[in-house]
Amino acid sequence: MEKDPQNRIVVDRPVDEAPTMGLAESDPSTPQAAPAPATAGQELERGVYYATTPIYYVNAVPHIGHAYTTILVDVVTRFHRLKGDDTFFLTGTDEHGEKVQQAAEAHGKSPQEYVDEVSGNFRATWDRLGIRYDDFIRTTEPRHKQVVQDVLQRVYDAGDIVYGEYAGLYCVKCERYYTDKELVDGKCPQHETPPEHRTEANYFFRMEKYRTWLRDLLTERPDLIRPERYRNEVLAMLREPIGDLSISRPRARVPWGIPLPWDDEHVTYVWFDALINYYSVLVARGTLDTYWPHVEHFVAKDILKPHGLFWPIMLKAAGIPLYQHLNVHGYWLIDDRKMSKSLGNVVRPLDLQQKYGNDAFRYFLIRDMTFGLDSNFSELALAERVNSDLANDLGNLLNRTLGMLGRYRDGVVPAAGPLEPEDEALRDAFVALPQQLVRSFDALQFDRALASVMEAVRKANKYIADVKPWELAKDESASERLDTVLATLVEALRCASILLDPVMPGKMLELRKQLGIRNAPFDLATAGEWGLVPAGTRTKPGEPLFPRIDLEELERQIAQPAEEPEPEERIIEHKPEITIDDFAKVELRVVTVEQAEQHPNADKLLVLTVRMGAETRTVVSGIKQHYAPEELVGRKLVLVTNLKPVKLRGVESQGMILAAEDDDGQLSLVTLEKDLADGSEVR
Ligand code: MSP
Repeated sequence: MEKDPQNRIVVDRPVDEAPTMGLAESDPSTPQAAPAPATAGQELERGVYYATTPIYYVNAVPHIGHAYTTILVDVVTRFHRLKGDDTFFLTGTDEHGEKVQQAAEAHGKSPQEYVDEVSGNFRATWDRLGIRYDDFIRTTEPRHKQVVQDVLQRVYDAGDIVYGEYAGLYCVKCERYYTDKELVDGKCPQHETPPEHRTEANYFFRMEKYRTWLRDLLTERPDLIRPERYRNEVLAMLREPIGDLSISRPRARVPWGIPLPWDDEHVTYVWFDALINYYSVLVARGTLDTYWPHVEHFVAKDILKPHGLFWPIMLKAAGIPLYQHLNVHGYWLIDDRKMSKSLGNVVRPLDLQQKYGNDAFRYFLIRDMTFGLDSNFSELALAERVNSDLANDLGNLLNRTLGMLGRYRDGVVPAAGPLEPEDEALRDAFVALPQQLVRSFDALQFDRALASVMEAVRKANKYIADVKPWELAKDESASERLDTVLATLVEALRCASILLDPVMPGKMLELRKQLGIRNAPFDLATAGEWGLVPAGTRTKPGEPLFPRIDLEELERQIAQPAEEPEPEERIIEHKPEITIDDFAKVELRVVTVEQAEQHPNADKLLVLTVRMGAETRTVVSGIKQHYAPEELVGRKLVLVTNLKPVKLRGVESQGMILAAEDDDGQLSLVTLEKDLADGSEVR
């Protein structure tokens, strides 16, 4: 342990290897097979495993990018549970900040109403995708806010948060400032929109002070951020001054956030708030000692900087031990382009799940992305993968095995006789897999892990072709040999069903049901043992696990997308009738816009100065998203002049500009067909 300049004790080394425990005994109620199981020395070390996804912003609906990280962490934590580790899986939603506040305003909802709804959306999607998280954190929960304030106070008391002024280029969508160098053609590299120039008095987190510490740490712990290309990216960031991080926002502008504990005129910058979720959840649950710092973060490359730079320094400054690894994956792309609403190429996970089934979709995502690299998504590739690996290789192995058991042994698993070299070769291929998978998972080679199981499955298919059970069946004297072959195939399927369970929990359970081995021992160690299916087990064949997809039909569908349904005629709900006298109470006049500027406290509002004859008025209007201030100056618009004035975010509005809005939120100002003098009455 070392002491930092404030004389606090700082633990910044990883806790040594996780404690190891002995193998748990298999369930005594499960019948054991006769021959002593052969194993490949399955000494699987057990430990503690805590994995996290990013907490997703609630201003979008989940797409396959979000689904990938969440499914991946689900797979990884299921794998560790199977291995016997004490496992914890956290996901959640990131609910504060300017972006969310703006999205709520755009939907005409209060921020709380809005975040409740969208957070529920994420949770419902994860439930439908079979995600088994242990907790779902929302940053608007009191249990989280409390810990954020505690951490802030600690860092403030230690002198690492100071007050100051900052001017810079800010992207609201990223909720961060960019340096000139980071911009691409003057635009935010993520959103391809120009950033705003902002000057603000804020609190700053003294990150620069920790720059050399982090650089040295990345040398000492070269796999802290992995794969290596991302560690190198962070090292490159650390080569030059990283500056201090503005960690507050004025409450008057961004009320939707956690107030700083020592100054409630400021709220916490959303990233400082959000990153702490990984820690706050454990504090709130009282499980900090169990799971921290065994934490494995999984994120995509878009949020490398907050996780690779801000987060370790925040932890260090707060005297909290560092995470175990930051695991960074690439992007799912569509035709080499990013998915985005504006490009209209967003792929929704639930559409694919409905069309191809949950497990096939999960299998594809994990099998077809090399962790760390970008991958192109295509539905055709998904279908081809399902057909080759799942329908042909795995599904076929099950069907052929069940078919032969039915034909030759009345659907009952026979007892194996002595193993021949080809049986042993197949056994050896399977029993080596648990250790191999542990290594692949540790090395983030999830695609390789699946490929190695499938290779063994293909060996089992080849084994059938080589030993030709149908010929053994014709020869009475080969009966024991046929028993051994069939029992060997059942064992192969049992092992495969355990190894593939983290990726395809639904289908693998179904497979075990069809084999009649639902109650056979079920953990990673038993996937490395042989001879566990008791003789006499009755199989229960069912529907094929993975029906083949008709690729030609799919290609036709892709080439000719289903026709857009005719838009339904709109049914307009009218307001109650009024008389001409009622209408005459409203005074409408033509006005000329003399000045238009951004509202000082609200991003969606403009403040207009309008003229009618000798008189000018100030009008606050919610049209910022549709009109730039400079487009408005000089235009003639229609104003409701006798509305009672109201204060909108601190500015008094003396009337209301008329505009039309369609169902898609498109907005058009009401203008004049001929150029009449301002002040003219509209009747
Ligand atoms: N709220 C922050 C994260 C805070 S964590 C303390 C955020 N949210 S996000 O909704 O934008 O989610 C970003 C994450 O979604 C990525 O890091 C990745 O996990 C996932 N993905 C989003 N798009 C993706 C792809 N196209 N491909 C793969 N994963 C992607 O950033």
